[in-house]
Amino acid sequence: KKPRITVLGSLNMDLVTVTEKMPEQGETITGQAFSTFPGGKGANQAVAAARLGAEVYMLGKVGNDLFGSKLKEILIQENVNVNFVETATNNVTGTASIIISNHDNRIIVVPGANKEVTPEWIISHEEQIRKSDILLLQLEIPLESVKKAAQIAKKHKIPVILNPAPYQKLPHELLKDVTYLTPNEHEFRQLVEDAAKEELEIIRAKSFITKGEEGVEFLLNNEKILVNAQKVDVVDTTGAGDTFNGALAVALSENQDIKDAILFASIAGSLSVTKLGAQSGMPSLNDVIRIYEIQKM
Ligand code: RIB
Ligand code: NA
Repeated sequence: KKPRITVLGSLNMDLVTVTEKMPEQGETITGQAFSTFPGGKGANQAVAAARLGAEVYMLGKVGNDLFGSKLKEILIQENVNVNFVETATNNVTGTASIIISNHDNRIIVVPGANKEVTPEWIISHEEQIRKSDILLLQLEIPLESVKKAAQIAKKHKIPVILNPAPYQKLPHELLKDVTYLTPNEHEFRQLVEDAAKEELEIIRAKSFITKGEEGVEFLLNNEKILVNAQKVDVVDTTGAGDTFNGALAVALSENQDIKDAILFASIAGSLSVTKLGAQSGMPSLNDVIRIYEIQKM
């Protein structure tokens, strides 16, 4: 049986400009290329999980505009269920303006319709959360809504992965309600900085820290473990974290043990950076399994 994953989060249109260097203040330069790509951490994680064979439900909002209909269309092509992707009334589709230069990317997100994903709206989707094997969350919708979703999931004993990106200080209740946290190194540092003393242990125990080319670090029975990343040619790291999260949701909902699940997710994340666009390089199940089998030997 396919794992059933619900992803609650953002949908954005990514407006990607590739340039040899970043412009200085007041400077105009000529860039190399421009493209629009489907994005948003929520939608990206949904696509990653669907490509790896899960039954995926996306919960979120787009604007009543071309970007919105395009994003829904793409999710449908990716076999993501969009019955719960609704059209917002007062906002345009979220956008992310992304500048890629060498190995660096800089992003400005304008949430737009994603802001209309309110706690009340989440409550009206309790049934979908209850029916899931796992719930996947990020921080591109209002924090109160993330909190509500985690609370509902906990009530029904549904495991929750929270990808704390882009970083915001997390309320204590949310830290307690989620099952796993997937910060990158910077987010992890901020989590620790912002934590009350009694929260530190919870954070460490729940965190799988993604460290880019170094791999993924986590605690298992109080022992620190590092799962190495794969060596790949980096074209665009946008969406690598999302691929990791989508893949992790698949692996954990299939009850793989933690170390294997991290290896699986980390391979998926590594493969995703070889193409321009957050979703373009996301691997299929076969792509990941092929490497996974070799690494396990
Ligand atoms: O994680 C990558 C995503 O973050 C991009 O697709 C962009 O939409 C930003 O929200
Ligand atoms: Na990519």
